[in-house]
Amino acid sequence: MTSTVSLPQLAGHPHFHYQNGVLHAEGVALDTLARDLGTPLYVYSRAALQAAYDNYRQAIGERPVLVCFGMKANSNLAVLKEFARMGAGFDIVSGGELKRVLAVGGDPAKVVFSGVGKQEWEMRDALQAGVKCFNVESTAELRRLSRVAQVTGLQARVSLRVNPDVDAHTHPYISTGLKENKFGIAIEEALQAYELAASLPGLKIVGVDCHIGSQLTDISPYFDALDKLIDLIERLAQAGITIEHLDLGGGLGIRYTDEVPPSPKALLDGVFERLKARGHGHLHLVLEPGRSLVGNAGVLLTTVQFLKHNDARNFAIVDAAMNDLLRPTLYQAYHGVAPVVPRQDCPAQIYDVVGPVCESGDWLAKERSLALAEDDVLAVESAGAYGMVMAGNYNTRPRAAEVMVDGSRFHIVRQRETLDDLLRGESTLP
Ligand code: LLP
Repeated sequence: MTSTVSLPQLAGHPHFHYQNGVLHAEGVALDTLARDLGTPLYVYSRAALQAAYDNYRQAIGERPVLVCFGMKANSNLAVLKEFARMGAGFDIVSGGELKRVLAVGGDPAKVVFSGVGKQEWEMRDALQAGVKCFNVESTAELRRLSRVAQVTGLQARVSLRVNPDVDAHTHPYISTGLKENKFGIAIEEALQAYELAASLPGLKIVGVDCHIGSQLTDISPYFDALDKLIDLIERLAQAGITIEHLDLGGGLGIRYTDEVPPSPKALLDGVFERLKARGHGHLHLVLEPGRSLVGNAGVLLTTVQFLKHNDARNFAIVDAAMNDLLRPTLYQAYHGVAPVVPRQDCPAQIYDVVGPVCESGDWLAKERSLALAEDDVLAVESAGAYGMVMAGNYNTRPRAAEVMVDGSRFHIVRQRETLDDLLRGESTLP
C-alpha cells in the first residue's frame, strides 16, 4: 500500500524512500532502526554505494581509468570493504588511512598517497606496502621521500601535484586549485620540480596529478585544468620526462538540494576527447572521487528533544549536533531534513534545527518548514560524505553509531562510543 500523505522528496537519494508513510533505507524502516539502536545514527545503503560506483564503471567502459575512492569522505571499514570488493583503489592522505585500506584487504598497488605533510613513517609504511604512487606536493617532500626510499631500499613512484591556478567556483574552504591554497606546486614551477625529481635517487616519475576542489557543479574548471596539464606533459616530454598516468583528483559534486552536478560520463568523455585531440589518448587516467561515491548513500538520524519558540524563531532541538555533522556550521552547507514519519496532525512551522552543543554555531539546518513534535525522528540527508569522518567529541559527546543497510537487513558497522571510551587515556596528576 502506498501512502496518500504528500511526502517530502529526498534530494539525491534513490535508495531512501517512503513506504507506508515511513522513510526506509532500502527495505529497512528507519523509525524502528532509530528506536532500536538510538540516535544520532548514521545509516548507509549498500545498494547506493554500489550504484554510485557502477555509475563510474559504466562511464569508464573500456577506457584505462582507475577509480581511487577518496576515502577521507567516509573511511568506515564496511564502506571501504565494499569499494575494495568492487575493484576500486583508494586515495589516502595519512598512514592511518593506509592502515584502514590494508585492514579490508584493499590492493596497495591501487593506492595513491596524497597530502601536503607526509611524515617519514607514513612514507615508509606506504613504500613497504607498495603503493601505486605518491602524489608529491613540494620539493621539500621530494627530497624527504628520496631519503626514505634510499633507507628502505625501495623505489617510490611519484607524481607531482600541480596547482593549475583555476577557479573551481566552489566554497573557498574546499577550493584547492588556486594559487593562494597550500596545495600542490605552482604550474610555472612544475618543470623544475620534475627535473629535481628525475635527479633524485630512489624516485621514479610516473604521473602528473591535480585536484582543484570539491563539490564542483560546473565541469569547465576540470577542462581548464586539463588543458594546462597537457601543456605541462608536453613540456616534460621535451625535457625527456615521460609519464604513464594523469590523475585529475576528485571533486564531482552531488545533489544536496537542487544542484545538477556533471556526471562521471560527461567528465570522462570530455577528458578523453581532449587527450585524444592532442595526441595523448594512450595515457592512463586516475580519478579520486570521494563525495560522489558516498554522499547520497547515507543519512544521519536524529531525534527531536524539545521544540522551543521565541519571538524571532522556532527551534527544533535535536540530539545530533555540530560534533556529529560539522558541514553546516563550517561551510554553511545545506543538508535536507526529512521527517522519518511525516505527521499530518500538526501544522508545519519554520524551524531552525539545532543541536545541544553550547555554541550558537551549533545548527544543522535553518529555516525549514517542518511539522514536528517531541520524539520525532528526522533524517539529515546527504550525510554519507564528510559526516562521521569529521565528527568529534566536543562537549564530551560520544560519537554516533554507524549502520549499513543491505536489502531488508542491517549491520552495525561501528558501535556507538561510550563515555568510558571518551575518558580512556586521560589521567590526573598524582
Ligand atoms: N583528492 C584529493 C587530493 C582531495 O583533497 C580530495 C578532497 C578528494 C580527492 C576527494 O574530493 P571529493 O570527490 O570528495 O570532492 N570536508 C569538505 C570537503 C573537503 C575535501 C577535501 N579533499 C566538505 O565537507 O565539503
